[in-house]
Amino acid sequence: MQSKKFIEENFKGYKQSTVPKIDEILARTDPSTPCGEYLRRYWHPVALTSEVNEVPKEIRILGEDLVIFKTPKGKFGLVHKACPHRRASLAYGKTEDKGIRCCYHGWLFSTNGEILETPGENPESKSALKLRETIKLGAYPVIDFNGLIFAYLGPMDKIPDFPKYDSFEIKDNVSSPYRVDYSCNWIQVLDAIMDPVHTSFLHGKSSGIQFSEGFAELGEIDFYERGMQYLGCNTRRINDNVWVRVNELILPNFTQAGAAFAADGTKSRYFGRSSFTRWVVPVDDHNCVALAWANFGERGDPIEFNNKEGFERIEAGEITNRSLEEKQKNPGDAEAVEGMGSISRHKGEHLMPTDKGVMLYRRGIKKLIKNLQEGIEPPQPQKIKGDTVRTNGQDTIIRAPKRNKNDKQFVKEICKSVLNIQFEHEDNSLIDRDKNIISKIKEMEERANFDF
Ligand code: FES
Ligand SMILES: [Fe+2]
Repeated sequence: MQSKKFIEENFKGYKQSTVPKIDEILARTDPSTPCGEYLRRYWHPVALTSEVNEVPKEIRILGEDLVIFKTPKGKFGLVHKACPHRRASLAYGKTEDKGIRCCYHGWLFSTNGEILETPGENPESKSALKLRETIKLGAYPVIDFNGLIFAYLGPMDKIPDFPKYDSFEIKDNVSSPYRVDYSCNWIQVLDAIMDPVHTSFLHGKSSGIQFSEGFAELGEIDFYERGMQYLGCNTRRINDNVWVRVNELILPNFTQAGAAFAADGTKSRYFGRSSFTRWVVPVDDHNCVALAWANFGERGDPIEFNNKEGFERIEAGEITNRSLEEKQKNPGDAEAVEGMGSISRHKGEHLMPTDKGVMLYRRGIKKLIKNLQEGIEPPQPQKIKGDTVRTNGQDTIIRAPKRNKNDKQFVKEICKSVLNIQFEHEDNSLIDRDKNIISKIKEMEERANFDF
């Protein structure tokens, strides 16, 4: 029998049986919530272009029930689901050249929400004239870009430029749009990108090799906070090589990493780019969706993963539609983040130094939310109007055999040097930037093999 003291010092089930609280600020994104208001200052992808046609499709974004459609003339519309007459669902509406017509009493709305026709009413009557002047169907601007439909759900006097990222312009890159739905709060899915150590466990040690053997190595972890950009690095020693892998988050929800399958630490790679360019968008407080492009080519992942299964494996380490038994045997990101419950209870977490990235970016978002509440608008990713946003998610693998001195320190220094090279050339033109970063990393590799 265990001693009384031992039993009292352990078995804390009863003492810890109260359910911890959720983080109300980060978790709630419905209209009029502080975080919902903050997220409504940015363009977000809301659907795949291929999902939208002349049959209206019901979607939910940031807790709003919406309908998305394409008119026979090819114009996209994103409007509130409830008709402003007597709230019939426009998911049962009919699309026409000019917009969408409600099934119940035939009111016709343009894609920008104007009431064009109220056919059951005398169009010249005072009430019909007044209605058209004063009432609109709630509508949002959308942009169809490279297979994803982006929308802006915020106040129209604050609408930002649609941001261009360097990832849109990588030479010979093939980008394929995909979506993966998650049945949990958006922060749980977003956290994983600022948690570079999970790749060694979830995608290597705990579930078997989901990407490559190199992922199972434990690396040196480092974080960078650069305005609204957050970087989480996991730098691994793989025999005589050092593999610097950089995960990236640009607030509020843009994410990139390195390659899923093209980098394993055994072959040289110089500023290889992300396997995905991705946004984590709240559907409501209990669901979110990753809408993204998977990137293939020399600087992305191998083209044989350019299919539904490939997208799911790139996104979450495993395919999504599996039996419970398979999920328990080989859990992927979906199991890790959905398993926390539909809204994780942050007050029950115990954050450690490897969670620093998670702490930093959550704090960053909260600061911007607070600023916005005080009237300070949040920053946009484009510092200069029209400029391309430089991103930093990447893999670099150089030959750098172990020294006599502290190898952990050596590996850390290599990470720091690679990141400094990236930062130094950030303002170069896009072509020069990549060329310069790659040649400087190669120069560094020479030095790493002689006199670092
Ligand atoms: S409810 Fe839509 S037209 Fe009447
Ligand atoms: Fe992951």
